[in-house]
Amino acid sequence: MQLPGKGVFGPPRDRDEAIAVVRRAVERGVDHIDTAQYYGPDVANELLRAALYPFPEQLALVSKVGAQRDETGGWVTAARPEQLRGGVADNLRALGVERLHAVNLRLPDAGHEEPGVGFDEQLDAMAAMRDEGLIAGVGLSNVSLDQFRHAVGRTEIVCVQNPLNLADRASLPLLRACEERGIAFVPFFPLGSAFGGQNRVLGSPEVVATAERLGATPAQVALAWVLALAPNTLLIPGTSSLAHLDENLAAATLTLDDEALGTLTAGFRP
Ligand SMILES: NC(=O)c1ccc[n+]([C@@H]2O[C@H](COP(=O)([O-])OP(=O)(O)OC[C@H]3O[C@@H](n4cnc5c(N)ncnc54)[C@H](OP(=O)(O)O)[C@@H]3O)[C@@H](O)[C@H]2O)c1
Repeated sequence: MQLPGKGVFGPPRDRDEAIAVVRRAVERGVDHIDTAQYYGPDVANELLRAALYPFPEQLALVSKVGAQRDETGGWVTAARPEQLRGGVADNLRALGVERLHAVNLRLPDAGHEEPGVGFDEQLDAMAAMRDEGLIAGVGLSNVSLDQFRHAVGRTEIVCVQNPLNLADRASLPLLRACEERGIAFVPFFPLGSAFGGQNRVLGSPEVVATAERLGATPAQVALAWVLALAPNTLLIPGTSSLAHLDENLAAATLTLDDEALGTLTAGFRP
């Protein structure tokens, strides 16, 4: 989501660096890339294809459907069954592949629901595309615990993508529910980024002090905390920068000691 231009809209700030970021990520062992046709729109997928096509076999390309962009970059709900199908078709075409490893049904934020469309209808549309071989696995995004429980009762779910970071832990029960069932939990905004503005995570005194003590960076501490939550956590920190990519990958080897976990877990309490 960080590869297109500002506001996830239009061409990248630096196309060469965007392509270099994607290539280096895969060279360094990243095997899961989160994308969407509406990132740009069309920009993220086009960059991925320019950087990597033909895609390495071990690379999971994971997209999401349920939204579109308008001509000014506004986010528009597009979650009727035929729109979900159209969204998957757009991803397949842009990436030049016959099947996506997983596609998340991304539910709209409260107040932006598609009138007259039931959750079951949407789930069935996703399952039908899996049955047809267009997607290997169905995922969910932006769901409540109740919606998750309902969905797993109706069809197989392979991954769940909700916001989760040090400052926003509302989805922790959902992470645990995924853990119990062996379903991947993929936190979005793991660094606390919510489309720019003040970052409550990276600038927090607890994160900064812990980073200094451990000889790491704030971003590495924030990522290591999320990664340590559960074995089913799969990280997708967004970056358009080669330096940040290297920094973020190194978070995988940062171990947070008891003092760090205590400080970070106790911090940010309302
Ligand atoms: N399912 C959904 O509804 C949904 C919603 C939002 C996001 N997502 C997915 O989740 C991914 C992660 O979320 P996100 O990208 O919005 O937020 P994020 O990963 O929490 O943070 C990304 C922001 O942090 C900066 N950053 C990255 N590494 C850094 C570092 N080491 N030090 C300092 N700053 C750093 C990035 O800027 P630079 O480019 O300068 O590195 C960018 O501004 C997205 O890219 C997208 O694929 C999904």
